[in-house]
Amino acid sequence: MSKFIIKGGETLSGEVNISSAKNAVLPIIAATILSGDKCVIENCPMLLDVFVITDLLKTLGAKINIDLLENKLEIDTSYVKCTDIDSELVRKMRGSFFIAGPMISRFGKVKMALPGGCNIGTRPVDLHLKGFKALGVNINIDHGFVEASTSKLLGSKIYLDFPSVGATENIIMASVLAEGETIIENAAEEPEVADLSNFLNKMGANISGIGTDRITIKGVKKLKGVTYRPIYDRIEVGTFMIAAVISKSLIKINGINEEHIKPIIAKLAEMGVCMEKYDNSLIVDGRRKLKPVDIKTMPYPGFPTDMQPQIMALLCCVDGTSVITETIFENRFMHVPEMTRMGANIKIDGRSAIIHGGTEFTGCSVKATDLRAGAALILLALAAEGETEVTDIYHVDRGYVSIEKKLQNLGADIKRM
Ligand code: EPZ
Repeated sequence: MSKFIIKGGETLSGEVNISSAKNAVLPIIAATILSGDKCVIENCPMLLDVFVITDLLKTLGAKINIDLLENKLEIDTSYVKCTDIDSELVRKMRGSFFIAGPMISRFGKVKMALPGGCNIGTRPVDLHLKGFKALGVNINIDHGFVEASTSKLLGSKIYLDFPSVGATENIIMASVLAEGETIIENAAEEPEVADLSNFLNKMGANISGIGTDRITIKGVKKLKGVTYRPIYDRIEVGTFMIAAVISKSLIKINGINEEHIKPIIAKLAEMGVCMEKYDNSLIVDGRRKLKPVDIKTMPYPGFPTDMQPQIMALLCCVDGTSVITETIFENRFMHVPEMTRMGANIKIDGRSAIIHGGTEFTGCSVKATDLRAGAALILLALAAEGETEVTDIYHVDRGYVSIEKKLQNLGADIKRM
């Protein structure tokens, strides 16, 4: 099992180029099934999760060409058939459930294993299924499998009890070829949902209200293959912003969309961090004294849950008391015991973590429990005295392209063993 060895205390400098967003690319790859044609994804992040979903499409008959040099992914879904879906792959990555919507749209049916939960929560898909049923799909759940079928998809009005990102995306993909109009109320407004909608509209779909909590999809007859460049990864941007501040450095981050990182900029500015935007770059100066802040994770445009472990690592290093309330996932504090081993003073009280920051941090062996927890431990290791070993880093490789190379180029002392 590979691991990272990080020697703390180095000051960072220079520039880092951000990759495209994992959480935009996964639903977009699933959506290529709708075209029955050739699609090209440019600047595609070559991540473990991308390879899992492309492997899944290959089992269905898609032809995939991965160009690692050009970061280009070519997908031909002309020969995709409606066969049983490999459960092993679905269980390996929840994001595989994104193919349900496109398969129902194209073939009128799908049978696949329900995605399991993961460390951060039970991750149900009841809202996905509620949307499919509203579109006229019969749903049968048996022995951990979901079987969906319909003779005709009919547009409908759907209210989401929670603005679920995945449910919004799956319902959009299930309704783009339906007869009539579908309206999703209380839809997720995350930029990745908007990016999927823009990709589908480029293919010929008719989606409006993009980026708002009310999305209207007018069914069309056919979609065609296109070339598309997904948005930058706002969570990777936020992760490197924290890397600059936790190591008291000044760095330049290339590949940002200021709108997408507004909540992160707002909270770091509240802490006293200096930031300057130039075109699609951001200069972050973390060399000033910082103040503690309280954070509450919320659906977009609130503070992203995917940045919660990372900003916790930073608040551990800031004198004073900060409170983080995690409102999205019921078990997203798995990184707290690991941070405590390094010297953090954090008390968990229900969905809140009370952080008494400014303690000394010493390197030791810690375990990545999920993707963002792993990234947060790497960040804390940058500020810790001595050497830290982060194990189970396959979690980190799921969502960050060569994080150690990007940090090494900034001057961090990090090695992959
Ligand atoms: C997406 O997961 C992201 N993953 C997650 O990123 C991200 O944390 C999450 O959105 C929230 O922003 C991808 O896009 C691949 P949700 P998703 O449906 O779609 C409940 C990362 O680190 N819910 O918005 O699964 C659910 O239990 C990952 O990159 C239902 O109750 O998130 C959770 O409490 C982690 N029923 C809340 O909604 C449903 O049918 C948010 O889930 C669906 C969700």
